[in-house]
Amino acid sequence: MTTFKVAVLEGDGIGPEVVSSAIKVIKRVGELVGVDLIFEKALIGGSAIDQKGTPLPQETLDLCLASDAVLLGAVGGPKWDDLPTDKRPERGLLGIRKALDLYANLRPAKVYEPLIASSPLKEEVARGTDFIVVRELTGDVYYGEPRGIFLQDGKRVGINTMKYTEEEIRRVVRKAFEIALQRRKKLTSVDKSNVLEVSGLWKTVVEEEAKNYPEVELEHLYVDNCAMQVVRRPSSFDVIVTGNLFGDILSDEAAVITGSLGMLPSASLGEKYALYEPVHGSAPDIAGKGVANPIATILSCSMMLRYSFGLTKGADIIEKAVEVVLQRGYRTPDIHAEGCIKVGTEGMTEAIIEVVEELWH
Ligand code: IPM
Ligand code: MG
Repeated sequence: MTTFKVAVLEGDGIGPEVVSSAIKVIKRVGELVGVDLIFEKALIGGSAIDQKGTPLPQETLDLCLASDAVLLGAVGGPKWDDLPTDKRPERGLLGIRKALDLYANLRPAKVYEPLIASSPLKEEVARGTDFIVVRELTGDVYYGEPRGIFLQDGKRVGINTMKYTEEEIRRVVRKAFEIALQRRKKLTSVDKSNVLEVSGLWKTVVEEEAKNYPEVELEHLYVDNCAMQVVRRPSSFDVIVTGNLFGDILSDEAAVITGSLGMLPSASLGEKYALYEPVHGSAPDIAGKGVANPIATILSCSMMLRYSFGLTKGADIIEKAVEVVLQRGYRTPDIHAEGCIKVGTEGMTEAIIEVVEELWH
């Protein structure tokens, strides 16, 4: 039997709850499809700061490097909010992305018909929305040097550097074209090339790569215009590719129009490693109460089966099971509506496993 080893970084807040729920689901799917999944835990974020004095301990990184995939819950919380930027839990996240060279961050934004009323957009605008943001994750102003706060003529000046090499652009753009090929074959590249040189290079590289993908329809949008179009015509997008900072912002916008932040998964892919995590944060206000929506983490695991293990059938079944469970009216409090069946983390997990079994037989 094939064995896959998953490094499990539960993190903070609701992280441990949603991760243990998702593990239950993929364990069952693993049994059904006939692969052996093994899980090993390590610390990240605030809990790692508390126990090891750093948000990303070396042993955590070593475990990730020795695993077939990484499953992450969420990091951060008010307890660590006053730490300086370079000591905060989020640093663990940025550190692991860089260390594993996870340059392509996939964030699907899908409006589920049973939840359409919770989209802040009009139903007729939101209906049919199903796109994916491919955000570059290891470059841009997040990592560019010089950075810092310096003294200039006795006054403080804050500096960050927006920077991309052509190879950094090319590899993520290729990934986005490949994903578009598997979907509706439409790619939107987002930049600010009317102002920024780095964006000019981005656009040029996209044009160069487009020659290798003649089947894919390509459009370019400036980031400000894109932010508008995403709320005006969300269902017209298929794949959006952009840099780290623009992608950070656009993917939150994309998340909110689905009306269900608790449902959105993500994958961060490199050539050798991959990390899967829900888009939502650690939600400290509901941590430990058993009410967190586990669907985002469950769907992140479905992406793991698809992108890291090539288990397409298992991935499809999980995605279908989530839709069926929503159609049957199961809701965690974050997506609850009149006349639905209110369940907690565990109830939702059990309902999904039940449907997985049904779909399999
Ligand atoms: C995200 C988050 C992170 C980012 C923060 C927490 C460092 O906003 O994953 O989108 O900006 O990348
Ligand atoms: Mg963000």
